Amino acid sequence: MFLEITKNQYFTINIIDFGTKGEGIGKIDTFTVFINGGVPGDKLEIKIIKVKKNYGFAKLIKIIKPSPDRVVPKCELSPKCGGCQLQHLDYSAQLRFKEKKIKDNLTRIGGFQDLAINPILDMSEPYHYRNKAQFAVDYKDQQFQTGLYTLRSHEVVDTPSCLIMHPLINQVIKRIRDFVAQTQISIYDEKKQTGLFRYLVVRVGFNTQELMVCLVLNSLEFTYDQELIAVFKDLPQVQSLVLNYNLASGNNVLGTTSKVLQGSPYIQEHMAGLKFKISPLSFFQVNPVQVEKLYQKVLDFAELDGSETVWDLYCGIGTIALYLAAHLVTPSSGKVYGIEIVPDAIKDAQENAKLNKIKNAHFLVGKAEEIFLQESQKKDFQADLVVLNPPRKGCEKVLLEVLTKVKPRKIIYVSCDPATLARDLKILCQDYYTLTHVQPVDMFPQTVHVETVACLTLV
Ligand SMILES: C[S@@+](CC[C@H](N)C(=O)[O-])C[C@H]1O[C@@H](n2cnc3c(N)ncnc32)[C@H](O)[C@@H]1O
Repeated sequence: MFLEITKNQYFTINIIDFGTKGEGIGKIDTFTVFINGGVPGDKLEIKIIKVKKNYGFAKLIKIIKPSPDRVVPKCELSPKCGGCQLQHLDYSAQLRFKEKKIKDNLTRIGGFQDLAINPILDMSEPYHYRNKAQFAVDYKDQQFQTGLYTLRSHEVVDTPSCLIMHPLINQVIKRIRDFVAQTQISIYDEKKQTGLFRYLVVRVGFNTQELMVCLVLNSLEFTYDQELIAVFKDLPQVQSLVLNYNLASGNNVLGTTSKVLQGSPYIQEHMAGLKFKISPLSFFQVNPVQVEKLYQKVLDFAELDGSETVWDLYCGIGTIALYLAAHLVTPSSGKVYGIEIVPDAIKDAQENAKLNKIKNAHFLVGKAEEIFLQESQKKDFQADLVVLNPPRKGCEKVLLEVLTKVKPRKIIYVSCDPATLARDLKILCQDYYTLTHVQPVDMFPQTVHVETVACLTLV
């Protein structure tokens, strides 16, 4: 008999798998239900909250029998906060989830069968690993709040201190909360687009302990300069105090212009034997411990002999490019080129080359898909190795087509989204490349996100 499922019904359900966002999946007959906070192996009481044609969503009401992989989250905010979707899962089970996620995507979307995937590179201390906080701000119950949004909403989960942030970042958050309580500066209201203070962005260099504090404002008028400077007078790690102006509506955190209120326009981080300047608008990987392991894998897979011409596409502040340039065995003949869309990041990359006395690295600003195409049409163009490290949405198809024409000996694709990685690898491996290595790296413990390094060799 066909069972009709409707909103507000209660069921007892066994969780049999994970969804891509870390939700538990269970079945009521053939009807699939997604339950936030469910773990395979759980027996749960659930309440249906949304019904689609063949599937629905439910709320976890009660854990009748817990999965052996379930743990008590260290942070009591984690069931609500959109940041750590997997804190209720034992760390080794988190790692298995991520390995499976990569394998499933490569098989289902990429069409790769019988793949040997290396064991994921894990963290011995999977907390306090983030070097950057990007927190929304709000006033609720007459109290200033900072934090991430709850899942699928713009409601701030008030987070005075966050377990995955570096401890110095938590110190800054506390001081900013006190500063707002004292000054009562107005808080941005998304719907009305009024109010001054929009986001708080804090960055720290793990190996330098240098802090950047950036207040994102909805107006050029800010009359609390001296009060804000005073907040950090006894925290000498704050090397850079910045106001960023974002007067546009929409979800972008940072605007395109900034003013240095005190100190330097950038902070420094030391990583993998190199020094990096990082300015407010530049991308920098958020987990410095794991990123060293990741870059080492890129170097291992690259198997450089020192004579190569290497392209680092989507290069940010030039980290991978400079790391490879520094490791070319005979750097005088080898060359590295980086392409990046954000002009400030390219300025950082050029300064970082100078800072590290690397002369064989060159950086170009613009869209990777456009600049690489233009460069590939030049007479003396050469590309032995291409490293791709695009944002979550992956590479433009046109860039993949150029790569299959240029045919570098190797392509190393570093990705933070296994689905777009699988989509792009399918195109590259259609005729010319074989997927030789897949290395997962746990850059984002407690979350559903995972980084992958994939190595392709010309057939
Ligand atoms: C995942 S980050 C990688 C940065 C760098 N490889 C690293 O490890 O720090 C992706 C970078 O791509 C840049 N980006 C986004 N779209 C781009 C495009 N179409 N062309 C070039 N760069 C782009 C972003 O600004 C960001 O710096």
